[in-house]
Amino acid sequence: MKIMHIDTSAKIAEKSNSRMLGQFFIEQLKIQNVDLDIDYLDLTKDVQPHLTSEFVVATYKPENERTPEMKQVLAESDAMCQRVLDADALVCAMPMYNWTIPATFKTFIDTIIRTGVTYDLFPDGTTKGKLIDKKVLFITTRGADLRAGAFQHMDAMTPVLKASFGFLGVDHPQFVDAQPLQFSDQESRLQALARAKEELTSVAKQWASEL
Ligand SMILES: Cc1cc2nc3c(=O)[nH]c(=O)nc-3n(C[C@H](O)[C@H](O)[C@H](O)COP(=O)(O)O)c2cc1C
Repeated sequence: MKIMHIDTSAKIAEKSNSRMLGQFFIEQLKIQNVDLDIDYLDLTKDVQPHLTSEFVVATYKPENERTPEMKQVLAESDAMCQRVLDADALVCAMPMYNWTIPATFKTFIDTIIRTGVTYDLFPDGTTKGKLIDKKVLFITTRGADLRAGAFQHMDAMTPVLKASFGFLGVDHPQFVDAQPLQFSDQESRLQALARAKEELTSVAKQWASEL
């Protein structure tokens, strides 16, 4: 199974719960004897650029009309799209930052949503995503507990992930949300991590059984 494993936490590996949980999931797949080919991407080191006017012009120009300069502008995005298309599964680990996804993951989304590459646009205006056969797991870490209580309505992370990957054809992304990991007592944090590990173990068994 070819997995694109993506990290986004601004923290170093030893201090990051999302990085730890992503690695835990990979280890669980190995325990399930899944033959893995990992394409690792750290979006804090390999930061994708913000959209530019040149990019927008080039991306909407039909491929056969693009100048060499336009092709050059799109080259990095082309390569990232190919990495995504080559994967059987995406494992994306990310902390909640200011109630939504890390900005580095947003620029990644802007990099990989490309007409004619990762989705098709038809003359009648309908679209079809090309990531239709891929498994996608989002491992999110949150300081607060958004399952209930005062912060419940503040989750601007799950909707954006579902919308953008749904557009690319991923109808059923899986989520393991570790929460609360900061704004709580120690016991609740430990329980949150244990719960996340249990869920990740279960997802790994499911993926292994579907091979
Ligand atoms: C800049 C920043 C913004 C954050 N914003 C939120 C937030 O809006 N909601 C929340 O529940 N936690 C928030 N947190 C807490 C992190 O999501 C939480 O500590 C998470 O476990 C960090 O994951 P990591 O250990 O992989 O970096 C924030 C943390 C940082 C550093």
